[in-house]
Amino acid sequence: MSDPIVRVSCVRHTYPDRTEVHLCGLDFEVDRGQRVVVLGPNGCGKTTLLFHILGLLEPEEGEVSVFGVNPARHFNRIRERVGVLFQNVDEQIIAPTVWDDVSFSPRSYGYSDAEVEARVTEALECVGIAHLRHKVCHHLSGGEKRKVALAGALVLNPELLVLDEPFEGLDPASRTDLRALLNRLHSERRVTLVMATHDVNVVAAMADRVYVLLRGGEIVARGTPQDVFQDPGLLRRSNIEPPVLAELFQRLTELGAHLGRPLTVEDAARVLVEWGGRARPGAAAADAAAREPDGARRLPPEPATPRREP
Ligand SMILES: Nc1ncnc2c1ncn2[C@@H]1O[C@H](COP(=O)(O)OP(=O)(O)OP(=O)(O)O)[C@@H](O)[C@H]1O
Ligand SMILES: [Mg+2]
Repeated sequence: MSDPIVRVSCVRHTYPDRTEVHLCGLDFEVDRGQRVVVLGPNGCGKTTLLFHILGLLEPEEGEVSVFGVNPARHFNRIRERVGVLFQNVDEQIIAPTVWDDVSFSPRSYGYSDAEVEARVTEALECVGIAHLRHKVCHHLSGGEKRKVALAGALVLNPELLVLDEPFEGLDPASRTDLRALLNRLHSERRVTLVMATHDVNVVAAMADRVYVLLRGGEIVARGTPQDVFQDPGLLRRSNIEPPVLAELFQRLTELGAHLGRPLTVEDAARVLVEWGGRARPGAAAADAAAREPDGARRLPPEPATPRREP
């Protein structure tokens, strides 16, 4: 049964310079324990949407509800339940050292020294930056700063994590680690995730529901990653480049190989192996025959005449 903890309904926001963002069309809803990704071109209103969820902006029209309260009025009632990673981490990291920064929330909420220490240590280890504990934040690299901000977001064990471009500026290994960490928080602690990202290749492995915004804020699509990435018209209209696997399997379909639309590497590998077996019915038997009795593969015979180098 669905249990919405975030709801944004037809919100209009006008910035001081009269730029208008109208988050309308479909309602934006997030159920407890869901992983929700927001996609859309630069400037369409993803950060504006997240700022409304965090109560940093107040709508002039429409409604926002988070854990049953209006966050613009009563964020203090829910702040310990919500962790945040801003797109611009320099706005988020305020203390001189990593320890000062990550311990800021538990200290300001009056946790005991021992509890603060335990939570900071756990958060730093969780993100893989225990070694940065005493570093001066100002001297950190961009990716390290993002991890410090993430540790600060996790330090109170939030029920809801709001992440604005969490993969930006991370190296490939750090991206993989972050993806695994977020999926672990989701599966083990049932943390609800709301994240804006341009990284379409992580979406299938990280999202239960995807929302697509157009310029101006219109929310034009809600669905699974499969739904969204199989709609070329929608992707074109919203200026979203399809993930590499979606493009590859679309091309294979056009060439006559109807293999479905796997979106994760694991699914793609399985589909291709099954297809290989079907396409070459004798392949399995031939493969077995090509193996030595101990299971090792026999080498193909040497060519009769050595090949001349070009
Ligand atoms: N403080 C501000 N003052 C004026 N205009 C703003 C302000 N903040 C955002 N905007 C405008 O509001 C629109 C939505 O911006 P927003 O930051 O929400 O987009 P976004 O989808 O997060 O973009 P990106 O993918 O680049 O992060 C843009 O046209 C932007 O220029
Ligand atoms: Mg943004």
